[in-house]
Amino acid sequence: MAVIADHCPQIQVTVVDLNEERISAWNNEDLTKLPVYEPGLDAVVARARNRNLRFSTDVNDAISSADMIFISVNTPTKTKGLGSGQASDLRWVEACARQVAKYAKGHTIVVEKSTLPVRTAETVQAILQAAEQPPLDGIVPRSFVVLSNPEFLAEGTAIQDLEAPDRVLIGGEDTNAIESLAKIYGVWVPPEKILRTNLWSSELSKLIANAFLAQRISSINSVAALCEVTGADVREVSKAIGADSRIGTKFLNSGPGFGGSCFKKDILNLVYLSRHFGLPEVADYWQHVVTVNTWQQNRIARLVVKNLFGNITGKKIALFGFAFKANTNDTREAPAIRIANDLLEEGAQLAIYDPKVDPKQISIDLQLPASSNPEKTSIPTNTSLTGEGTWWPANSINEATKGSDAILILTEWEHFEDLNWKEIAPHMRQPAWVFDSRGVVNPSEVRSAGLRLWRVGDGAT
Ligand code: UGA
Repeated sequence: MAVIADHCPQIQVTVVDLNEERISAWNNEDLTKLPVYEPGLDAVVARARNRNLRFSTDVNDAISSADMIFISVNTPTKTKGLGSGQASDLRWVEACARQVAKYAKGHTIVVEKSTLPVRTAETVQAILQAAEQPPLDGIVPRSFVVLSNPEFLAEGTAIQDLEAPDRVLIGGEDTNAIESLAKIYGVWVPPEKILRTNLWSSELSKLIANAFLAQRISSINSVAALCEVTGADVREVSKAIGADSRIGTKFLNSGPGFGGSCFKKDILNLVYLSRHFGLPEVADYWQHVVTVNTWQQNRIARLVVKNLFGNITGKKIALFGFAFKANTNDTREAPAIRIANDLLEEGAQLAIYDPKVDPKQISIDLQLPASSNPEKTSIPTNTSLTGEGTWWPANSINEATKGSDAILILTEWEHFEDLNWKEIAPHMRQPAWVFDSRGVVNPSEVRSAGLRLWRVGDGAT
């Protein structure tokens, strides 16, 4: 919405949320305090805020005065009831539709921006249609059109993805409404990149785009395991296959498995839909993309244990990175969560360093409060051999690595690529290991510092 406001100063954009704390953070004068860390977003907000971009908790008023409303609420996986663990929970979408139905005035275009299961527009349409009012004397007229306009931006590169999208997708049946929305994007997006489809194709395309991307990651991660036992190198294989223009170079980086709020949720949703429509083979096919992802995360944790003589109780391991990818503070479904939990289960002492993630978030994700750094406590805690896994937030690379038996790289933060291994190595307990699940380190520099190295998909180590 900030990018739309930035490009279209003639359009008044109001972002509303019930959460007062969040809205006041969006209104914070200090742009470093915006609720989302996203490179370049602060500059966009600075240009548009208080001009034609407002953040408010007055939801009803914003609905009444809007010509177009984007529904952009959460659609997490259901945790109970029918479809639990797979289907999307649509309670917030439905609540939004009901609120829009109640407070909208005149003709309103309602745009589904949230990622939704196919045919959700039908539900939204049914709720809105029930509230339509013909233009009769003494009654405020009300009519609605529903469009689907899924979002394809990725975190960390959101602003550049929005400024120069591969495509904008608009699904719907009402040509006037489609063209009104296309006109907004048309201000900065070339016309050939604005695709128009029917509602259901648009909803399905969003799920399938994420499923295809996630499938590439599970594919390359399965290849990484094969490389490790055959002597091949997954980076060389990625390069060789990616050079085929039919395959392409992107999304072929092997790693600790995909994370983020969408891939797993969207695939599980697809699995649920396929089963619902009587296509069990299709459901099983996509389910396996998630199964391989979980396997990759467990595999990495097992590998750390195995290389540290099969025992990590009381051993100090430095985790480099907790966010699900670089350039974000988002930890939703981060591979670090499962891997850290597996290591804690084995009694490890984890020093977790991430330049952007708030330690409070790590406690929530691991469901374990932080301990204090044993280096800093004057009283010896003696907990290390009790078998209890503990973790504490490290403020720097040095603090994390001091006295550690191993370093495990889980997020590809840029500065992990050129760490000074000669400086780090002497502070570690020997024999010390570097486990690089993102394949970002320079192997010869790590080895020449006297450290043992495991790199994902590297058959030579
Ligand atoms: C993803 C899609 O890329 C977006 O197009 C989509 O709009 C978004 O989900 C969404 O539906 O909200 P995002 O989850 O922000 O975006 O980030 P990605 O760059 O796709 O990365 C997802 C995960 O895959 C990360 O954990 C990343 O580290 C991992 N990944 C990505 C790999 O392991 N290897 C790769 O080659 C690429």
